[in-house]
Amino acid sequence: MRRAIYPGSFDPVTLGHLNVIKRAAAMFDELIVCVSVNSSKPSGLFTPQERVELLRRVTEGLAGVRVDCWDGLVADYARRNQARVLVKGLRAVSDYESEIQMAMLNTKLYSRLDTVFLYTSPKYAYLSSTVVKEMARYGSDLSDLVPRQIIEDVEQKVRGAQERT
Ligand code: PNS
Repeated sequence: MRRAIYPGSFDPVTLGHLNVIKRAAAMFDELIVCVSVNSSKPSGLFTPQERVELLRRVTEGLAGVRVDCWDGLVADYARRNQARVLVKGLRAVSDYESEIQMAMLNTKLYSRLDTVFLYTSPKYAYLSSTVVKEMARYGSDLSDLVPRQIIEDVEQKVRGAQERT
């Protein structure tokens, strides 16, 4: 079984992420989309469990896609789940430096693990979860940014966060 893991913060999942998920799912027997903690972005908008729920909703019906959550090293998660491939999306050259470093580190931690990079569709090259949150704070239309099933969740969550500040 060719199993791959697509790790990320997914706070929240964007149309760019979904594009990578669909393309990667077509390449492997099973793709585990894994909500992981990025220590440089410790406090997110959504809790890890909420991100999992949003991801489950938008990937429902995609054959071979499973969503999970892990707060340890991704390399350990891969070893436990007998996966030898990590999938990462690359938007621009600026992503490359940190991603290649992470890929090498992950192979050092688990020598059987390789990282496959999928370039982002040019349609979504400007898109990130940070951009989504910023647009939502200003009440912009999110329909070109996140899957339609989660637009309301993002709007409500941002509104709630604004009310608390
Ligand atoms: O969507 P992001 O924020 O670019 O994802 C980064 C993420 C979560 C994949 C990365 O920070 C990660 O792998 N974190 C888990 C901890 C880990 O394995 N660290 C070692 C690699 S730097």
